[in-house]
Amino acid sequence: MPSGQVNSKVEEFADSSKAAGSRPARYDRRRPSDPAVSVILPTYNEAENLPILLDRLATILIDIDYEIVIVDDNSPDRTWEIAARYEDSSPRIRSLRRLGERGLSSAVMAGMEVARGRVLAVMDTDLQHDEEALIAIVNPILDGDADVALGSREAEGGSYGEWSKSRRLVSWGGAQMAKRMLGLAVSDPMSGFFAISRERYLAVADQVNPRGFKILLEFLARGEKPRVTEVGYGFRDRVNGATKLTGGVIGNYLVALIDLFAGRLVSATFTAYALVGLMGAVIRFSSLLVMTAFGVQAATLIAFEISVIANYSFNNAFTFAQDRRRGWKAVAGLLPFHMIALHGLMVQAGIAAFAGIETADLWTAPVWVQVVGIGVATTGNFHLNRAITWRRSASVSS
Ligand code: GDD
Ligand code: MN
Repeated sequence: MPSGQVNSKVEEFADSSKAAGSRPARYDRRRPSDPAVSVILPTYNEAENLPILLDRLATILIDIDYEIVIVDDNSPDRTWEIAARYEDSSPRIRSLRRLGERGLSSAVMAGMEVARGRVLAVMDTDLQHDEEALIAIVNPILDGDADVALGSREAEGGSYGEWSKSRRLVSWGGAQMAKRMLGLAVSDPMSGFFAISRERYLAVADQVNPRGFKILLEFLARGEKPRVTEVGYGFRDRVNGATKLTGGVIGNYLVALIDLFAGRLVSATFTAYALVGLMGAVIRFSSLLVMTAFGVQAATLIAFEISVIANYSFNNAFTFAQDRRRGWKAVAGLLPFHMIALHGLMVQAGIAAFAGIETADLWTAPVWVQVVGIGVATTGNFHLNRAITWRRSASVSS
């Protein structure tokens, strides 16, 4: 059919429906009104957990006009089949089976795209999120008092269950970095238990990077600063099935932080400082390698010294160019810079100790210990150097 003909058919249809009673076009009478709350449940191999959670939600949400959107990525244990059965049994339940895609964040985004609620809530399907906290998370958004509400294991009343020290440290480090880099005073920015308003979703959806596990961070950091509320809850242990959060997730989180951070240019100075630090680390490790190969005494110390001097010079020339130290002051600046570098080492050692690693074994510690340690130390050192080594001259405002 030529397109002109299609258009006239559509117009004809529109005309006839108008004629039927000249109702306001905004109101769609064929569909029940949009629910107050959509609960999005991402699932991957949750066949045992999903029915339990759906039962509990039916009780918890009894006084709320809600829908549930299950998004399964074609789980090998056929969770999608169970989801489809529930969909048939209840008009409140909808399910999506994605065949070509995998990933928690993108599953959540897919669910939000089809969800119709005024509030879009997300929770894990593995029963680790306490569904009793759901109402408290959803309420401030329904009332218009917040744009984002999150379940927090760090806030008052929150707890981690049987999480290992190291996993808690990663979580804590992640929160610290989000706070410093993005200026977000949120205690648990990696939480997978949260709700946002439809307005917030519409405002930032097209900027969200749907990779990895850190979808909440995206809704917090993109666009204008949201009004945020936290609700403490006790994170439960997983009884059925296994976690999908593996080591790569941490790297992913860091990349996301840098991406969000660089994107909003809170401080290009910090980005430059971090890049110089990275360069210094490469210099340190490569000179250490060379010296060790040649059997040089005190190689660790010399490599550290080389990298500190290189970092200092580059920071003086580029990062803090506006407040550059010249002449004898440039030499004198080496003293505070050294002290601060040592402080950074102590921070790194402290973090490693928390993970049960001896200071002597610092350089052979697992990658995540290094990443968290270096990340926290770098952020702290940056502020100290800004305040001490390259104090802003009064005339410079930025
Ligand atoms: N559709 C889909 N696709 N769902 C997924 C995928 C995926 O690729 N990966 C995980 N899920 C679902 C799981 O079935 C579960 O319902 C939920 O997402 C969380 O996955 P888990 O594998 O149980 O994550 P976790 O318990 O280790 O991690 C928790 O803590 C993280 C860090 O604090 C979660 O709450 C995360 O959301 C949180 O980021
Ligand atoms: Mn889990």
